[in-house]
Amino acid sequence: MITWYNYHRRDLPWRHTRDPYPIWLSEVILQQTRVAQGLPYYRRFLETYPTVQEMAAADERELLRLWQGLGYYSRARNLHQTAKLVTEQFGGRFPQTYDGLLRLKGIGTYTAAAIASFAFGEKVAVVDGNVYRVLARIFGITEDITTTGAKKTFSTLANQLIQTTDDPASFNQALMEFGAIQCTPVAPDCLLCPFQQRCVAFQTGRQQLLPVKSKKAPVRERFFNYLVIEQQGRIALKERRKRDVWHQLYDFPLIETDEPVEAFRYLMDHDTSKDILRKGFFSGEAEERTQLLSHQRIRAKFWRVTIPAGVELALPEEAKFFEPAEIERLPKPMLIADYCKSQLF
Ligand code: ADE
Repeated sequence: MITWYNYHRRDLPWRHTRDPYPIWLSEVILQQTRVAQGLPYYRRFLETYPTVQEMAAADERELLRLWQGLGYYSRARNLHQTAKLVTEQFGGRFPQTYDGLLRLKGIGTYTAAAIASFAFGEKVAVVDGNVYRVLARIFGITEDITTTGAKKTFSTLANQLIQTTDDPASFNQALMEFGAIQCTPVAPDCLLCPFQQRCVAFQTGRQQLLPVKSKKAPVRERFFNYLVIEQQGRIALKERRKRDVWHQLYDFPLIETDEPVEAFRYLMDHDTSKDILRKGFFSGEAEERTQLLSHQRIRAKFWRVTIPAGVELALPEEAKFFEPAEIERLPKPMLIADYCKSQLF
């Protein structure tokens, strides 16, 4: 595996360092996205916060704004919390062992193993989706990878394998890289694979059946009606405070409905909208946009309402008016960011 890696590895910036801070940062980003999409985020984060101390001192809103587009924003808040913990309780130095790292709230087994092996050369296996797939195929493991039992099986196997190398950092990178570019989910490159002879999946023609993964929960549909309230070039936004998707990000005053809303008048007698709709004008068609999250599909309609200058208005849900330049700097869900861009604010 390491021989294969030395021929085929991609030249990625976090593979040129043994500093745990950028390694940690890269792994948190790469748990969320692929390498190509993650690279620019990695660079921007390191430019903005060159050290863990600087990340600890960050304004959380700015950090969320940098994360914008990666999704699953609790990871970004967790990043910040962990940076603070490392700075305040460990003097800015990450613990140097797997066990020590795991004791940090906010670092799980995956990240602890990645840092311990890449930065400190500890023989502890990293087990991610790539590793599940590679091991399931080569060894013909049929356990459902969504179960906790499987996690144990794969982790035990990977940790046995890593004992046989004196380069655990390369071993872990190699296994993940192999999964990412050779033993891919849909069309693995079996014809040129060095494991052909010993790969159970290849030998039995079961590449497409392994790893075994049970079906996900169905996606829930939600209907968001956004009131895009404009007065003299300023737009009303509010921070999302409830326990729900996009916590702490900014969006517009919202009326969620169980069904799609077909016409503006159906929104009229809603508490959120009453005052606004009496004082403002609904302008034109509602624009529709959809964003698919891991377990929900958000179907949003943007209802644009103009309030004449000088009219006093009680904005709903603690919304506030923002200038376009301020809006650009607020952390927003991609759905909202894209809409704002299309409207030039
Ligand atoms: N995916 C997760 N960690 C990775 C790494 N270190 N290099 C490439 N892809 C990854």
